[in-house]
Amino acid sequence: MLRIDGLSAWYGEAQVLREVSLEVAKGEIVTLVGRNGAGKTTLLRSMMGLHGRSSGVVEFLGQDVSGQATHRRVRRGLGYVPDDRGVYATLSVEENLTLPPAVGPDPWSLDQVYETFPRLRERRRSPGTKLSGGEQQMLALARVLRMGARLLLCDEPTEGLSPLIVQQIGSILRDVKEQGVTVLLIEQNVHFAQTVADRHYLLAEGRIVESLENSEMRARENELLEYLGI
Ligand SMILES: Nc1ncnc2c1ncn2[C@@H]1O[C@H](COP(=O)(O)OP(=O)(O)O)[C@@H](O)[C@H]1O
Ligand SMILES: [Mg+2]
Repeated sequence: MLRIDGLSAWYGEAQVLREVSLEVAKGEIVTLVGRNGAGKTTLLRSMMGLHGRSSGVVEFLGQDVSGQATHRRVRRGLGYVPDDRGVYATLSVEENLTLPPAVGPDPWSLDQVYETFPRLRERRRSPGTKLSGGEQQMLALARVLRMGARLLLCDEPTEGLSPLIVQQIGSILRDVKEQGVTVLLIEQNVHFAQTVADRHYLLAEGRIVESLENSEMRARENELLEYLGI
């Protein structure tokens, strides 16, 4: 579904991604793990066409989208859930969900959203400012599904959330996968990553240094935790 080939990116003169190549097949949940500053956010932003200077191929559903504007990538079904969650503070949950146009190929109905995110149904009249971190994260995910994404690019959705809420986000992601959506997930929580994903890439200093199956991730959990400095 997604193929990245030789992706490099720069901030001014500083190169932060070096010939990154990876693939995600339809229906998978794949994580990208790496230390702070490794280039994870830059990688997602480059896939969306939101990063200024980059080169390489981003192929989505068999088409090279690397020259395309962000809105065209969204229309094809790429969905970006940024690390700041991007919730509109003054709008209610339901307004946040219905404001962005459903431009992607598989837009979810509000009913489908509320089935998968019952907490958002309960909170549908609440303004963005009144939501907990976990609720904001659910809203950010739900909004992109409502817009019609086929592939979610999620930037550290569990960051700063309590263990109970992290578990809830995990079960939501598995449910989303059951409904035919593919997920590429940036995750620092190695333990959580194994419980939710099918396989993993390790990014270090702008390079993919390992590709790990779930069983390898499990066997090397302590080593990886140490490496990530957690
Ligand atoms: N706006 C910016 N200007 C210059 N350098 C930046 C900027 N944003 C990030 N960087 C640098 O790019 C590298 C990768 O950052 P980022 O993609 O945010 O990493 P990660 O998401 O893995 O923490 C880091 O070394 C960071 O310092
Ligand atoms: Mg980041």
